[in-house]
Amino acid sequence: MKVISTIADLKNELETVRNNGCTIGLVPTMGALHEGHASLVRRSVGENDVTVVSIFLNPTQFNDKNDLAKYPRTLEADCRLLEQCGATIAFAPSVDEVYPEPDTRSFNYPPTDSVMEGAFRPGHFNGVCQIVSKLFAMVEPDRAYFGEKDFQQIAVIRRMVEDLGFTLQIVPCPVVREASGLALSSRNTLLNDDERQIASNIYQTLAQSREWAKTESVQVVHDHVVSQINAISGLEVQYYSIVDGRTLADVASWNDSNDIVGCITVFCGQQPIRLIDHIRYKG
Ligand code: PAF
Repeated sequence: MKVISTIADLKNELETVRNNGCTIGLVPTMGALHEGHASLVRRSVGENDVTVVSIFLNPTQFNDKNDLAKYPRTLEADCRLLEQCGATIAFAPSVDEVYPEPDTRSFNYPPTDSVMEGAFRPGHFNGVCQIVSKLFAMVEPDRAYFGEKDFQQIAVIRRMVEDLGFTLQIVPCPVVREASGLALSSRNTLLNDDERQIASNIYQTLAQSREWAKTESVQVVHDHVVSQINAISGLEVQYYSIVDGRTLADVASWNDSNDIVGCITVFCGQQPIRLIDHIRYKG
């Protein structure tokens, strides 16, 4: 595996690849890689001739500078994992390399980017679109792989791809979970053992709520999830939204769409750590 840090070197390398008629898969990451990322990389390696994994902690998507400061940075271990997964290129540029000038572009794809994470983290998806559009332009991949854990992010990126006319395929990949049900996340390393145990109640509650959804209304299921999770000491729901899986508009009834997903954000522990997860009710 080659580790590349400049855009010029990356483009040089990929030009040869493209001239040889090879397909390129891109897995964008912010590092602190875990088994969830590894599953994306393995999938890309299986489906493309060349897999580029970007490792870039993108400052423009952090509306909270503390969150950026706390974010784990583990480049050496990341490269070891990527090597084991069969990645061809790890692209790990500096902030100045990616943003020689401040990126003033503004992306607006409501409601996908204005609800939920968009409402609680203003500017977050604008930053995601800035970096992902730059990566798409640099790498020109045939396919790009994103974890469904960041469910809303995929909906926003799909809108951006349509808007900017990228011809690549977006490949959503299933959430990887610990045995307890907790969704793997780079942020989990910030949880202590007790908090990690407590956090597993988030998915367990969401999974149970699928049963309630068979007989109860959207509003009852929503309120039940929120009250069950808030009843657990150490957890506090920031929002729970039951939405159409493509537009992310709220649904009022199970008949409103064929694709219905519940998206949750929960604060866990003393610091606290913000955890996101989702459950599919329909589709
Ligand atoms: O999902 C992430 O890790 C990031 O939002 C992404 C897509 C790598 C952009 O920085």
